[in-house]
Amino acid sequence: MRVREARPEDAEAMSAVLVASITELCCDDHGGRPEALAEWTADKTPEDMRRWLAKASDRLFVAEEGDGEIVGVGGFNAGGEVTLNYVAPSARFRGVSRAMLATLEDRMRASGITEARLDSTTTARRFYLESGWREGEGASARFCNVRCRTMTKRLD
Ligand SMILES: CC(C)(COP(=O)(O)OP(=O)(O)OC[C@H]1O[C@@H](n2cnc3c(N)ncnc32)[C@H](O)[C@@H]1OP(=O)(O)O)[C@@H](O)C(=O)NCCC(=O)NCCS
Repeated sequence: MRVREARPEDAEAMSAVLVASITELCCDDHGGRPEALAEWTADKTPEDMRRWLAKASDRLFVAEEGDGEIVGVGGFNAGGEVTLNYVAPSARFRGVSRAMLATLEDRMRASGITEARLDSTTTARRFYLESGWREGEGASARFCNVRCRTMTKRLD
């Protein structure tokens, strides 16, 4: 498995990974509520991916297995925010998100970002805490009617 910059031709697979990951893995967040799930996945279509890839302020990456299958999608923006970090359900707990996060942190550091932030799902909370991210006290955000936890990490 390797992590590389995403390309426009990855858009369909990226969309499929994001929708499956949110739907199947983030159950503690959306609780199976159709409206939360619909809102969360609404901007994850292949067309959205192509639009996102064209934005100068954002960088998107995919984790790819040896046979070219895309099993993870991640990204960050110029403001130092991790915007995406999702694994395909079939590739869960095989180091994909860890490798993706390491790449995102490296690339942010290389871009001169010294303080990174993200809004963590409840699903990924332990993963980020164990990856050296810190939760602001009482800090939480709402995203698609889902409660997220704002986390930060110094990158220098
Ligand atoms: C939890 C999740 C992020 C872990 O990523 P992964 O690619 O499946 O797994 P990795 O092998 O890269 O990471 C494993 C680490 O996750 C953590 N972890 C293990 N089980 C976990 C669980 N049930 N819940 C949360 N974190 C867990 C541990 O730190 C583990 O490290 P260890 O194996 O050294 O103990 C992923 O499975 C997931 O559910 N993603 C859903 C999408 C999401 O919520 N993304 C975050 C958006 S902000």
